[in-house]
Amino acid sequence: MQRKGTTPTTLDLFADAAPQPPTTERIGPCSVVLRGFALPLLDRLLPALEGVLVRAPFRHMTTPGGYTMSVALSSCGDVGWTTDRNGYRYASIDPQTGKPWPEMPAVFLELAQRAADCAGFADFVPDACLINRYIPGAKLALHQDKDELDLGWPVVSVSLGIPAMFLFGGHARGDATQRVPLFHGDVVVWGGEDRLRYHGVMPIKQADHPQLGEQRINFTFRKAE
Ligand code: SIN
Ligand code: FE2
Repeated sequence: MQRKGTTPTTLDLFADAAPQPPTTERIGPCSVVLRGFALPLLDRLLPALEGVLVRAPFRHMTTPGGYTMSVALSSCGDVGWTTDRNGYRYASIDPQTGKPWPEMPAVFLELAQRAADCAGFADFVPDACLINRYIPGAKLALHQDKDELDLGWPVVSVSLGIPAMFLFGGHARGDATQRVPLFHGDVVVWGGEDRLRYHGVMPIKQADHPQLGEQRINFTFRKAE
């Protein structure tokens, strides 16, 4: 709305326009990026995230090969994902606190279900949400998400905070990768024939986000059990 005595900015000019459907970019036969899809839920999402992190704080896990991950992890839901010298697995108890992982907040579930629906995967009920925190310099090597029992369900990945360059590869580690820039509020869904595609995150560049500061938070929702 244009107010008397003020110069209209571009934002003012578009403020009354009808809301646009979020843009969808196809990155594979069964994979999409839903731009800005999480933004309408942010007011509920961020306080819910804080609640989870109080009970299951971020920690740097060790890979079976003995490396400490640059990405810090937490989880919520019936099971959380952990790695240590004994391997990768889903477990109902957080090994750091000795307690069950925090329940998945309703708004998390709502977001995951809506995004999966939009991508053509109806009735998705994730039982695990991994929460990754990247600070500038942190990265995630190419890997497949294959610790879930039923690979018929997709992975729903939500990006918040500073941008990342997501790498979306093929079915072999050495296949060419697409570079997909991901911004605050973007959601990626991959499933079906794309479910086991290699993916990773390039080292995060220095940046500052007005709400989240110098970090990127990523949620990945899965049906693990
Ligand atoms: C993951 O593959 O688990 C996370 C991907 C991301 O941070 O975008
Ligand atoms: Fe992954």
